[in-house]
Amino acid sequence: MSPTPRGAAISSQPINPPPRLLMGPGPINADPRVLRAMSAQLVGQYDPAMTAYMNETMALYRAVFRTANEQTLLIDGTSRAGIEAAIVSLVAPGDRVLVPIFGRFGHLLREIAERVGAEVHVIEREWGTVFTEAEIEAAIVETRPKLLAVVHGDTSTTVAQPLEGLGELCEKHGVLFYTDVTASLGGNAFATDALGLDAVTAGLQKCLGGPSGSAPATFSAKAVEVINGRKSIEAGIAGSDAEIAHTRIRSNYFDLAMIFDYWGEKRLNHHTEATTMLYGARECARLLVEEGLDAAVERHRLHGAAMLAGVHGLGLQVFGDLAVKMNNVVAVVIPDAVNGDAVRGELLTDFGIEIGTSFGPLHGKVWRIGTMGYNARTDAVLTTLAALEQVLRRHGAPVVGGGGVGAAYDLYEDAK
Ligand SMILES: Cc1ncc(COP(=O)(O)O)c(C=O)c1O
Repeated sequence: MSPTPRGAAISSQPINPPPRLLMGPGPINADPRVLRAMSAQLVGQYDPAMTAYMNETMALYRAVFRTANEQTLLIDGTSRAGIEAAIVSLVAPGDRVLVPIFGRFGHLLREIAERVGAEVHVIEREWGTVFTEAEIEAAIVETRPKLLAVVHGDTSTTVAQPLEGLGELCEKHGVLFYTDVTASLGGNAFATDALGLDAVTAGLQKCLGGPSGSAPATFSAKAVEVINGRKSIEAGIAGSDAEIAHTRIRSNYFDLAMIFDYWGEKRLNHHTEATTMLYGARECARLLVEEGLDAAVERHRLHGAAMLAGVHGLGLQVFGDLAVKMNNVVAVVIPDAVNGDAVRGELLTDFGIEIGTSFGPLHGKVWRIGTMGYNARTDAVLTTLAALEQVLRRHGAPVVGGGGVGAAYDLYEDAK
């Protein structure tokens, strides 16, 4: 190791991360098959092999999103890249956007819409609860938005907003309907077309069992019409007939009209597709389709229920409305007089297990434990419950000895 001018050492060591079981709200351990796919050699941007992979990825994600939408593709970047691309491409400055907020990621949708220059209206609900359809309809009638932007599963609170009925509402009132399914896709029932959605964006690092860095997304014909109505092709690509739309999309990188032309038959150059991330995203979807979408949701339901039973079996309390809890994450109330960060620290150093902290009003009050993607497995659930019991005992918490693993075992037995 040699010192740098600022005093930090330049490491000569290769990356060799410690073994961890990631049982937080995501990221989780990537499926080894996804990591293997990501170690494949690169091909050129317009190699027929690459364009075939792009087309296959589109088809796979149509299956995952349960949609017939032609424009189903990857946005390069983490999940919020997908959110930002959808909002900046659909919403022009001054357009009205309605955001129902019931957790941290509703605030993110609001913030992104504000940065785009939209007139943003919000309705807010206490964290851990969700909106009724009537509440959302009343807000639509009052604010007459161009876009309803709502998070499906909000990992910050562990609950999912029911989306049934909202598509019909949006159709009735002439509103575009967007949802962020980063935390829920693959582990909870979801169907783009049946729900009447115009735009949906996701990420890989939760129930899809991949690393963060690619945002699968899908757009209805109606959304595509709005986006293409704002199309401006880069001068260096379009040549002399370059036109600048009056309502040009206020981002180049996230200009979906240009991204559609890159993924479509024209193959008009935009960014250089992140090949390695595409390999990973394709493998995530391939694995999900191979397992069967319903089977994957059932797997998340089973292991999520086992974790919940185990947490209750230890004598711990759970936060949030359980009637609308996502399958893949549970918020555990930190017992009185227990130092939540110290418990998380010991789980990590002594057992190699990571569980999540929390944000905003829940900070210091709950841990978030995930059972998702590659880690929605019996051994991961039982190991986490056993370790949690031991660490809590050391911290003097009155846990039921063997209660966590026992309750989860019982649930698995009953499910056989
Ligand atoms: C519901 C939801 N939306 C958006 C994000 C942001 O994702 P990213 O960190 O991949 O940009 C997250 C991350 O946890 C999330 O749970």
